[in-house]
Amino acid sequence: MEKRAWHLRNKWLRHKALEGSNSIRPYLPDTALLTRASLYRFLKKYRSVFVKPVYGKHGKEITKITRTTSGYRMQSGVRDGQVGNRGGVAMELREVVRGRPYLIQQGIELLSIRNRPVDFRALLVKLNRKWWYMGVIGKVAAPKRVVTNLHNGGRAVSLKRALMETKHASNGRYARVDHNMRSISTRVATRFGRKYKRARRIGIDVGLDTDLRYWILEVNTSPGYKLFKRHPNRQLYGKINRYMKRIR
Ligand SMILES: Nc1ncnc2c1ncn2[C@@H]1O[C@H](COP(=O)(O)OP(=O)(O)O)[C@@H](O)[C@H]1O
Ligand SMILES: [Mg+2]
Repeated sequence: MEKRAWHLRNKWLRHKALEGSNSIRPYLPDTALLTRASLYRFLKKYRSVFVKPVYGKHGKEITKITRTTSGYRMQSGVRDGQVGNRGGVAMELREVVRGRPYLIQQGIELLSIRNRPVDFRALLVKLNRKWWYMGVIGKVAAPKRVVTNLHNGGRAVSLKRALMETKHASNGRYARVDHNMRSISTRVATRFGRKYKRARRIGIDVGLDTDLRYWILEVNTSPGYKLFKRHPNRQLYGKINRYMKRIR
């Protein structure tokens, strides 16, 4: 049987691993375990929130809740509905959650291309006790989706192209963002690796909001990297494959 590299399935623990770091905390969206109290608090505080399963992946069972003039909009998969008040939100969520642990997170107003949200995947691999930054690539959500995952119809887009399609289009800005993606991701991996010594690969979902602030949406310890087949550097996917083989 193939020996699998270490993986931490619990999204809450992966988030908590970063909270202790002063230099990373500014990039972490406000996040809590979902309870009725945290739900009400977050709905009051933020214009939108994301609710996601602690043991979820591939963008499954994620609900976005947005405050509207008449109540709350709830989006999940291609479902898109309205409820009148917070009690209505709680009732709808109870059906989704069915007793399993969930997180609630401050919604980030992500950059978007033709009305579809975009976020970025940064990938790092640990070899010889050092984290090696492989690169970053954007993912655009499919129409009507609130998640960018490939499994939900998301598509790859280069960082440069993504920025060029927004109001932040400029070569200088692209260079700066590319640089910051590397430095923030490396900081995250280093921190995470200190906490979890067995971590060998890390995929970070980094959001950029409409003011170009950076947000760590999640850290994956078993990251898919198919996206990188579409990276403008055509050699990169092969390189990642070679690195990944060496950590197994
Ligand atoms: N707080 C948030 N604000 C805006 N978009 C989010 C937020 N959290 C998640 N998303 C969107 O949902 C996607 C999936 O969420 P993520 O936490 O990465 O879960 P999964 O493990 O299922 O990939 C993200 O890549 C992003 O597109
Ligand atoms: Mg993800």
